Amino acid sequence: MVKASRGLQTEFSGIPGEKNNRILIADGDGSLLVYMRELMTRFGYEVFCSDSGEKAVCMLRTVRPAIVFLDLHLPGKDGLETLEEMRQIDEDAYIVMMSGDGPAKAVVTTMKMGAMGFLHKPFDQEELLATIGKQMDRRDLIDQAKSLREEIKRKAECNRLFQNSGKMREIQAVVEQVADTDITVLLEGESGTGKELVARAIYTLSARRDKPFLKVNCAALPEPLLESEMFGYEKGAFTDASSRKPGKFELADGGTIFLDEISEMMPPLQAKLLQVLQDKEFTHLGGKQDIRVDVRILAATNRNLAESVAQGQFREDLYYRLNVVNIRVPPLRGRKEEIPVLVEYFLKKYSREFKRKAPPLSNELLDVFQRYHWPGNVRELENCMKKIVILDSDKAVCQELLKKCSAAEAELNGEKPGLDELIRQNLHRYSLKAFSKEAIRRAEREVIGKVLQQTCWNRKEAAERLQISYKALLYKIKETGLER
Ligand SMILES: Nc1ncnc2c1ncn2[C@@H]1O[C@H](COP(=O)(O)OP(=O)(O)O)[C@@H](O)[C@H]1O
Ligand SMILES: [Mg+2]
Repeated sequence: MVKASRGLQTEFSGIPGEKNNRILIADGDGSLLVYMRELMTRFGYEVFCSDSGEKAVCMLRTVRPAIVFLDLHLPGKDGLETLEEMRQIDEDAYIVMMSGDGPAKAVVTTMKMGAMGFLHKPFDQEELLATIGKQMDRRDLIDQAKSLREEIKRKAECNRLFQNSGKMREIQAVVEQVADTDITVLLEGESGTGKELVARAIYTLSARRDKPFLKVNCAALPEPLLESEMFGYEKGAFTDASSRKPGKFELADGGTIFLDEISEMMPPLQAKLLQVLQDKEFTHLGGKQDIRVDVRILAATNRNLAESVAQGQFREDLYYRLNVVNIRVPPLRGRKEEIPVLVEYFLKKYSREFKRKAPPLSNELLDVFQRYHWPGNVRELENCMKKIVILDSDKAVCQELLKKCSAAEAELNGEKPGLDELIRQNLHRYSLKAFSKEAIRRAEREVIGKVLQQTCWNRKEAAERLQISYKALLYKIKETGLER
């Protein structure tokens, strides 16, 4: 193998936005390789040479060149075989064939096999540079078309997210205002409302969109693992740490971090995060060296974070750091006008994905969709549509939701099913945590209701009697739906 003048490089990150000027040449003729390498290097290209098809195929994987020059008569694996293999590895590879005998048939064959051009040997400098220029221009055009397509897709996605209701359009206005700043945004809203999509929209509209967007789910990992996932560790920091590992904060340098379910973060880690937000610096677990990063933070929670602060579960100073701009994504039941558009969208999406014909939807289904209170929000609607496509009918979903609607409406009219009934109805889908939460909610509602009655709705006095903060009481009154 003839080494390129800048030394043999084997790996490239393919940084988006960076111009790729790498050229790979495969030819059994060493003197031709030297000639081409020197000429192209002089014109600013980075050149990699191989004297066999096998090596060229390996180099295609690591070098990811903008253009490949491939001789038709390579020793060993010949040019046609190499061409075929390269096209399988990278169907967008720009391959120009070279040949000394140049029968017209070979040109046709190689073009049919996906070669982009053909150079007849001997060729002169002008011919070679013109071929490179043509390929590079073509590549630029393709890149332009690709970024245009991505831009259109981004816009279409934003429109789908924001253009279906007045409430989401209001959110879009805030998103557009903050996207191109480095302001920290806190997204609040029930699970499944689309907080993550809003976070991604902020990122895609920001100048950081070519840098990473990394999500950290603060509820998914226990404390020490979460810390090492966020901030990385040094070799030997704990028993299993056999090598140094960077954390998401480093990996997202220059980009955006999305801290999902932030309310679930334990106090010690909250303290570390606060410090990182203040100093933009941190250390690995078991490390001493300060690491500086430039990361934009977006955070989301399905809890009322102010309430968690009031209850002493979340640091107030961190709350203010995160809550520079607050976006509250409303539940689906508060923007039901979106339902028909989302139904159409998911129906198309899943019939395409599962390669099924979209089943016709009954009016009954659309009515029940409007009646239902959607505790799982858009995610629940999405799952319903998935089920309808898989079952090729909306009957089962319709019946299930009708039942739930009737139960909810009965509860609203005061005919609340007892816990026994609730368990019977929902045993297959509720977690123990959900049942416990409901039982606590009911007990709290009863006790708080009685104390409020006794104090003639003097909430300050009621809070003192119940030994909770005033703020916590206000939250509980709202949460349990108590009314004077
Ligand atoms: N406007 C929307 N259009 C299409 N899909 C949506 C929309 N809003 C939410 N979704 C989908 O609903 C699911 C839940 O959204 P997500 O952003 O993860 O919610 P959250 O973070 O609030 O729990 C995801 O599968 C998401 O793609
Ligand atoms: Mg989420």
